Amino acid sequence: MRILIAGRTGQLATELLDRLPRDGHLVTALEAPELDITKWESIEEAVGRTNPDVIINAAAYTAVDRAEGDRDRAFLVNSTGPALLGTITALEGIPLVHLSTDYVFPGTGGAPYDESAPPQPISVYGASKLAGEHRALEANPRTAILRTSWVCSPHGANFVKTMLRLGAEREAVSVVADQHGAPTFAADLADAIARMLPRLARSPAGDPAFGIFHLTGAPHTTWHDFAEAIFAEAAARRRPPPKLTAISTAEYPTLAQRPADGRLDCGLIGRIHGIVPADWRLSLTQCLDTVLGPIAKDPA
Ligand SMILES: NC(=O)c1ccc[n+]([C@@H]2O[C@H](COP(=O)([O-])OP(=O)(O)OC[C@H]3O[C@@H](n4cnc5c(N)ncnc54)[C@H](OP(=O)(O)O)[C@@H]3O)[C@@H](O)[C@H]2O)c1
Repeated sequence: MRILIAGRTGQLATELLDRLPRDGHLVTALEAPELDITKWESIEEAVGRTNPDVIINAAAYTAVDRAEGDRDRAFLVNSTGPALLGTITALEGIPLVHLSTDYVFPGTGGAPYDESAPPQPISVYGASKLAGEHRALEANPRTAILRTSWVCSPHGANFVKTMLRLGAEREAVSVVADQHGAPTFAADLADAIARMLPRLARSPAGDPAFGIFHLTGAPHTTWHDFAEAIFAEAAARRRPPPKLTAISTAEYPTLAQRPADGRLDCGLIGRIHGIVPADWRLSLTQCLDTVLGPIAKDPA
């Protein structure tokens, strides 16, 4: 298959570039301005040049706090972008794979959200991503959307990298312990997308392969417990851990509100696509093997 990826330098695109060629696909990943998802001519030109069988939109405005004061740009990238990609892929008669977020939910449900739960974003970022879901699906019924959470990888800026930096700089680190969710490693998302692609490519509009699916790592955890796991992995690689303190969201104010409980029920993608959430603890080990190097064997 010829695959066009938007958002080349991002975490997910980097992993897709590693994963998809292993299935024999011809992959082109582009970044703005070469492929700017907010510009019709830019997408048209990239599509004309690469003639893709599918487009994966890994591009997004992901600065959650900055989005609060940058609403127009967040909506342009996260809503207009998917709308344009949906329209052009529909005209081309090809499927679109798009990514969304647990931040479309308020986080007050008290149980993992499934795909039938009504979204109600509490941040500009969440609202822009929800608008993008609607507009992509409206424009191209052959759109598959993966809602995910807490994306991490050895590349780019993410919670794992931030904890490793803070752990090296400080003796003590405080992390919120009252926000629940699940880390998702970009490599696991890329693997899931790779496994979905053959069915997406051959299925007609209306097939259950399309629509919205939840996919995160497992098991559910808190940011604090995730930080604890990161520092344990780092300590196994001879990085002394900082003192880790659990704090509340109220003690760590941010510009954007985050869902207190953004846990996603990932059952549907298992039933339709046979994909089960990857254990993020194993993926964390692999991530730190890349970032810090593998755990040294005891010479004894
Ligand atoms: N990161 C998370 O924790 C998280 C959580 C839930 C869902 N998601 C979703 O998962 C997907 C992948 O996230 P990620 O973490 O891989 O994102 P990322 O690392 O922030 O990468 C996003 C990429 O999109 C590019 N981009 C921004 N505006 C663009 C435009 N107009 N045209 C083309 N490219 C543009 C960015 O380039 P610049 O850097 O040059 O702007 C960057 O390369 C996104 O849809 C995101 O909303 C992420």
